[in-house]
Amino acid sequence: MKRLLLLLLPIALFLVGYFANRHEASHEKTKTHQKPSQHTWHCAADDVRCFEKYVVHVIDEGSDIFHYPSGPMPPHTVSHTEAKKIAAFMATLQGFRPTHPEWVQEGRYLFYGNCTGCHGPNGKGQKGYFPDLTRHPLAGL
Ligand code: HEC
Repeated sequence: MKRLLLLLLPIALFLVGYFANRHEASHEKTKTHQKPSQHTWHCAADDVRCFEKYVVHVIDEGSDIFHYPSGPMPPHTVSHTEAKKIAAFMATLQGFRPTHPEWVQEGRYLFYGNCTGCHGPNGKGQKGYFPDLTRHPLAGL
């Protein structure tokens, strides 16, 4: 009997360790996924691809770089596909030629329908509450 216990103990310890680890790993994953953008991206000034990726990231994950008293930008206000179209339109606000010019028109409508409520009718924001999306470069870049 004693022998059996001695044999089972390391197995039990291994299993406990294994599941604790797995739990932690999955917890980490959701944590990083939900983390709003808080760092700068270091995009080159003329890198439109990087600019568009940043915009999509902010829309998908939210943003908390300014620490406004009014709070961070909420994530997922539109779908990932819509976010890419909006990014194409926003690239034109910065004087870029978007990687997908065919998305600009739809992106413009999506921008007016989903973003101007906070960022203002021309995307220029409101000082201290909502950042100006037309300035070069954006704060997170
Ligand atoms: C509920 C209000 C709200 C809505 C709706 C909203 N935003 Fe924002 N947005 C904010 C706030 C607040 C910030 C600043 C958050 C921070 O980083 O501290 C922000 C930040 C940003 C930034 C980062 C700006 C920078 O200088 O780096 C981008 C890009 C952006 N928003 C794009 C959009 C787009 C595109 C949409 C529409 C899909 C949108 N936002 C909808 C409130 C909003």
